[in-house]
Parts: sequence; structure tokens; C-alpha cells
Amino acid sequence: MATLFTGIGELWTFDPAHDGPLRDAALVVDDGVVAWTGPASGAPDADERVDVGGRAVLPGWVDSHTHLVFDGDRSSEFEARMAGEGYAAGGIAVTTGATRAASDERLRSLLEARLAEAYRGGTTTVETKTGYGLTVDDEVRSARIAAELADEVTFLGAHLVPEGWDADEYVDLVIGDMLEAVRPHVGWMDVFCEEGAFTVEQSRRVLDAGRRAGLGLRVHGNQLGHSGGVALAVEMGAASVDHVNFLSADDVEALAASDTVSTILPACDLSTRVQFAPARQLLDAGATAAIASNCNPGTSYTSSMNFCVGTAVLQQYLTLEEALRAATVGGARALRRGDVGSLTVGSRADLHVLDAPAAIHLAYRPGMPLTHGVWKRGRCVSQSPRGWSKGRRGGP
Ligand code: NIG
Repeated sequence: MATLFTGIGELWTFDPAHDGPLRDAALVVDDGVVAWTGPASGAPDADERVDVGGRAVLPGWVDSHTHLVFDGDRSSEFEARMAGEGYAAGGIAVTTGATRAASDERLRSLLEARLAEAYRGGTTTVETKTGYGLTVDDEVRSARIAAELADEVTFLGAHLVPEGWDADEYVDLVIGDMLEAVRPHVGWMDVFCEEGAFTVEQSRRVLDAGRRAGLGLRVHGNQLGHSGGVALAVEMGAASVDHVNFLSADDVEALAASDTVSTILPACDLSTRVQFAPARQLLDAGATAAIASNCNPGTSYTSSMNFCVGTAVLQQYLTLEEALRAATVGGARALRRGDVGSLTVGSRADLHVLDAPAAIHLAYRPGMPLTHGVWKRGRCVSQSPRGWSKGRRGGP
């Protein structure tokens, strides 16, 4: 069954063949993929028609960095931070305790609810990580539950050295028994390369083991200082290095010359009151950027990509087009996915319909409920109570 979307005020396809959005556009979805895009005046007929009433249509957000498998609350830590305390990696242990104590059913239903919340906000592809288990059994459980529900799953056993462990011996466990046990459930290996977590040498061992196990590589790097994580990510050919708040001129140059995506996390920078990642500088140098939510209970308890995109425009001086691209095509690149993040013909039909005539409203009206409807693989997964104007072939 083919569906024709008409009445599109502004259509962002990110098709390399044309710049910027198409106005007064139409799009056809067939069998879960985009089959046609172009001016409404030239649209082909289809079995069903959906009139979006002049609204803007974008690819669904690709959120390439979240930590959604957890239990527990850290709002008091956040409150203390707002009163002047700094963020430190040690808070991860609090969430680890609560997560270990939760039943499988509870962890699964918490993850389901968080994913549903993300979909309601226009996200259609989600990466999520382990990292709040930190024992073989708890990491496997997180990986297994994540793999049931999320699009991409990352092993982050190297998130924090658990209490009572020597760091190097814990790394031995992560790259030995733990990696072997989680391997069937994950596609990516990650490490938190930062003071208070893992050194560059320990991180290199983690990434090297991940690569030997056939996993793609990602790094949490340069979040709280010049940790060396960025240089390591580039050296190891990681798909993405995330946070990138503290960068030297050499780091920027290395990222620009590499295939490693620089993933910025605007909501995390606000919530931790760490200086914003120098996104403008990275883009000016020629680096590829992604925007992700980093939804987690410690540093960024939001999955709102609308908010992250608005913040990148308002506070980090990205143009609207750069921010939209980073949160769609950029996220897909960070996950090495070619099927999502754009609305080119043949792409997965993941549509985000805004309740606005133009996408600039994401920054112009920050905090407003601007997601009107979301389609994943051509199926409507979230819809505003105001609904759609629908018609059958040849009908109104
Ligand atoms: O990406 N930086 C490391 N990991 C998370 C925070 C984890 C936590 O504090 O619970 C992040 O910000």
C-alpha cells in the first residue's frame, strides 16, 4: 500500500542532490521506504493520501547516544549541582546500585517507557548502552533487554571502575569474560576515557578488545577535561567520539581529517554546566557532527531531540540546517547507518511531522510541543490528538 503525503509546507530530505528544504512538497511511502519526493504539483497518485496541512516534515531524529537501561533517581545530585557542585563520574555508582536491584521486568518496562517517550518526541532510531551493571551478569542482562527493544546496542562495561576493584584488573574482566558474555547482544564497544573513569592506556585496551571481537567503536571523550579520548578515538578509527567539550587545536584538526564523528550533547552540557562543546569550531574545520540527547539519570535526563536541536542553534551557533543535519544524517553516520537519517528515495520511511510550517520553529519556540506525528518504517507510531486529514485514492 502506497501513501502520498501532501500539504508539506517544508520538506527536509537531506538528499545530496539538492540544497535546503523543498517547499509545497509531497512524498510517497511504499512498503516502509521513501518511494518518491518532489513538488506537490508533480506528485504521483497512491492508494492512500495524508494531508499534513502545511506542516514541516523532517527525517525522524537519530539519537546516537543514550543510556536508557537504568533504575533510580539522581535528582538530588542534580539539585546540588545547580547549587554549585561539579559533576563527577562517581555518580554512576549510585545508578549502578539501583539498576542491579531492579527485576528484569522492571528494567524492561522502564526502557519501554523511555523509548516510547523518545518516539513521541520525533526520534525514530535509538542507540542505547549498558554501563549501569558493571558485573558480568548485570551487564549481560542490560545488553539482552536493550537488544530486545533498541535499534543499536553498545557495551559500556568500562563506564566506571566498581568499588573494591583495581582498575587494571577490572579492565581484564571487561575485555575477557564480560565481553564474551555480552557479545551476542551488542554491536558496539564504548569506554569512558576520563579522569575518575579510565586512562588512555586502559581505554586503548578496551577498544582494541572490542575491535578484535568484531564490534564497532565509540568513545566518551574530553567531557570534563583534556582526557586524550579524542586523540585515542581517532587513532583507533572509532565511529564516534562523544561529548568533545575540551578540545585542543590538534584535536579539532584530527577530527576534521578523520571519519570519526564528533557527537555533541547540548542537553548534557546544560545539565552539567560544563562549557559547551565547540561545535561551531568543529564544523568550520570540516568535522562531521552529530547531535544526541545522552538521556541518562546523571548528566542529561531528557530524550528530547527537539530541545537539543533548538539549543544547538540558540547556544552553540549552528545554523538550523547544520543542527537538523547533525541530529539526523550525523547521528546515522555516527552509527554507520545508511538506511536512516534522510528522506532520500530508498531510505526507511521515518517521518517527523512538526506542528509548525517551518523547522526553525524548533529554536524560535523552544520548549513547545512541536512534534505533531511520527512515522517509523511507514507506520504511524505517534500522532497528535488533532490527527490527520486522510483520504483514499481519488477521494478528497
Ligand atoms: O555520557 N560520561 C559518562 N556517562 C554518562 C553519564 C553517566 C552518569 O553520570 O550516570 C554521560 O554523560
